[in-house]
Amino acid sequence: EETGKSGYDHYMLKEINEQPRALRQCLRARVDELGSSVDIDTVGDLSPSGLQFVACGTSYHAALYGARLFEQAGIPARAYLASEYATSPPPIGDDLVVGITQSGETADTLSALREAKRRGAETLAVTNTVGSTATRECDHALYIRSGPEIGVAATKTFAGQLAALNLFALATAEDSQTRRSVIPALRDLPGDIQSVLDNSTAAEIAEQYADAESFFFIGRRYQYPVALEGALKLKEISYEHAEGFAAGELKHGPLALVTDQTPVFALVVGDGEIARKTVGNIKEVEARDAPVVAVTDGQSDAELYADHVLEIPETHPRAAALLTNVQLQLVAYHVANNLGRPIDKPRNLAKSVTVE
Ligand code: AGP
Repeated sequence: EETGKSGYDHYMLKEINEQPRALRQCLRARVDELGSSVDIDTVGDLSPSGLQFVACGTSYHAALYGARLFEQAGIPARAYLASEYATSPPPIGDDLVVGITQSGETADTLSALREAKRRGAETLAVTNTVGSTATRECDHALYIRSGPEIGVAATKTFAGQLAALNLFALATAEDSQTRRSVIPALRDLPGDIQSVLDNSTAAEIAEQYADAESFFFIGRRYQYPVALEGALKLKEISYEHAEGFAAGELKHGPLALVTDQTPVFALVVGDGEIARKTVGNIKEVEARDAPVVAVTDGQSDAELYADHVLEIPETHPRAAALLTNVQLQLVAYHVANNLGRPIDKPRNLAKSVTVE
């Protein structure tokens, strides 16, 4: 088992560090050097007029991100928790139903896909696992090519899901201008992630706040699913209380929880309206004495109001989601490590949940 970890203390840390390679594999031969075309085989020939994403846990966060991509391209899309979809399915119409599942074996997701199929929908599995039940039962499969993931906490497969969803949107719904702005950013991701891994100060921040009462994560648009994912990762492996929020929702309730014992991780990318509004939310929590960690590319003035900064390189906002996420993976890992948790096998959890 030790050899399998290639010198890392945990599979999770190894898999976090494998993300540059996993993304190179995901993109290999699928995007061209000029950034003008995407080739994902026959999946690229689909032309959905609407999409329903179904998934659980981390994969559900990827689903929220995927739905955002298609919505921004003008195609109605929605993410559903598979466990809810299976028992309360919405009208499907002509929508393509997309199951996102790294294992391809999650019972809730399979059940949602079966319900969609029973109602006549065309289905697509976005998965890491060739030959899995999801790929056998769906009409189409898009592989994320992340390589095996052993740690119960999904890390490199989440990155693979986001990258594959970008390819899917670029191939089926987006124009050449968008392709030319997004593909170069996707191609830069392995190098940009490596730079985050090499320079992150997440370990020091994690050490300082490992005993905090609660951890909050806030973000908007593509950073909102990352905020949810940051919180899930932290709870899953550290057993500490954590919540992710759409930054604008804080003042509608969660702000009551904010004190000097609740570090707030704010995800701020770019210098546009979204960043400006999130900086406004940072000011709200700062005024309640919360320690603020800005996870940012430094384009806005977020750093002025933050106690700590976790930096990411500047890139396209869609690609930036994968970079802020790496910082949050490292925070979760180091908090859990400081608390001496069994990181690769957290209590009560299984890698693949095969019961509903
Ligand atoms: C992620 O860290 C979790 N272990 C969990 O939420 C997981 O993402 C979920 O169970 C879905 O798994 P799947 O992608 O294999 O369907």
